[in-house]
Amino acid sequence: SNIEKGTYPHFMLKEIDEQPFVMRKIIQEYKNEKGELKLDEDIRQAMKEADRLHIIASGTSYHAGLVGKQLIENLAEIPVEVHVASEFAYNTPLLSKKPLFIFISQSGETADARAVLVKIKKLGHKAMTITNVPGSTLSREANYTLHLHAGPEIAVASTKAYTAQIAVLALLAVDTANAKQLKLDFDPLQELAIVANAIEALTDQKEAIEELAKDYLGTTRNSFFIGRNVDYYVCLEGALKLKEISYIQAEGFAGGELKHGTIALIEEGTPVVALTTQKDVNHPIRSNVQEVVTRGANALIISMEGLEQEGDAFTIPQVHEALTPLVSIVPMQLLAYYAALHRDCDVDKPRNLAKSVTVE
Ligand code: G6P
Repeated sequence: SNIEKGTYPHFMLKEIDEQPFVMRKIIQEYKNEKGELKLDEDIRQAMKEADRLHIIASGTSYHAGLVGKQLIENLAEIPVEVHVASEFAYNTPLLSKKPLFIFISQSGETADARAVLVKIKKLGHKAMTITNVPGSTLSREANYTLHLHAGPEIAVASTKAYTAQIAVLALLAVDTANAKQLKLDFDPLQELAIVANAIEALTDQKEAIEELAKDYLGTTRNSFFIGRNVDYYVCLEGALKLKEISYIQAEGFAGGELKHGTIALIEEGTPVVALTTQKDVNHPIRSNVQEVVTRGANALIISMEGLEQEGDAFTIPQVHEALTPLVSIVPMQLLAYYAALHRDCDVDKPRNLAKSVTVE
């Protein structure tokens, strides 16, 4: 490939750093001559006509889909289901009269998703693909495509594609809300520009995050990532990043669910990364942190400005409440990167994994 790392030691670090530029590129690509958000008319129509959306994806793209479900339901008021692609084919849910299928795939080549696409097309349903590769199989075979504009992603662990997917899903949600004449009180393009600056501020704090990675994840075999509401979805992705490249067992968990079983695994020194970016769950997640700390956990709290408390390990800049995953995932990507680096792992090419899985 002619994509170069330049001065970067790894593609993953380069791609983490590219995220502010990707956000700005997406803003450019999705605005019209008047500087307003505008998606293709046929996509607007398809979204407006759908009585239910089914997001189909795998891995990191599935985690972006979970965030997308919340964005679309809250902003565009359409019910959304999110499915792991490999499950949908064998465990197909009851379908409504006018479903629209949304395939999220960085590569556009994942075989598990393709199998679902073939199946739903046979049933006569419409599909939209959100991908980083417009000429890809999933893009060609779907009725509509939304492009991520993230540029080639080389590292096996996905970073900039995840944030691009969430940004594009947010724009899709807002555009649909606009098409349905629902009143929203924010300008998504302006909010994304704020997000781009916030990510930039975070990528400038690599040393601090490297220290946290050494202190909390240096020698451990396992770890937990806890959050509530949308922070829970980000924790699933944060945990996936860590296990993919550092081989530390990592579990993303809903903070309130720990007490129903998983808290049994907390021992003296177990690292628990807790995320809090949502006002309504700031108090509840901090209670969950107390529950694990009482049992010996080593808690690393990542909070958003405005919700921070003394003792938090790291604070991220404030962004619009609907867009926090775009920012809160960044310290987790960097934690994973430095944890893997300090274990001498092959960051860009982790064992047993492929960038794109073209077999079912
Ligand atoms: C592979 C990669 C993951 C990726 C998943 C889905 O397992 O290792 O990083 O999230 O496939 O890939 P896609 O290209 O469909 O988003």
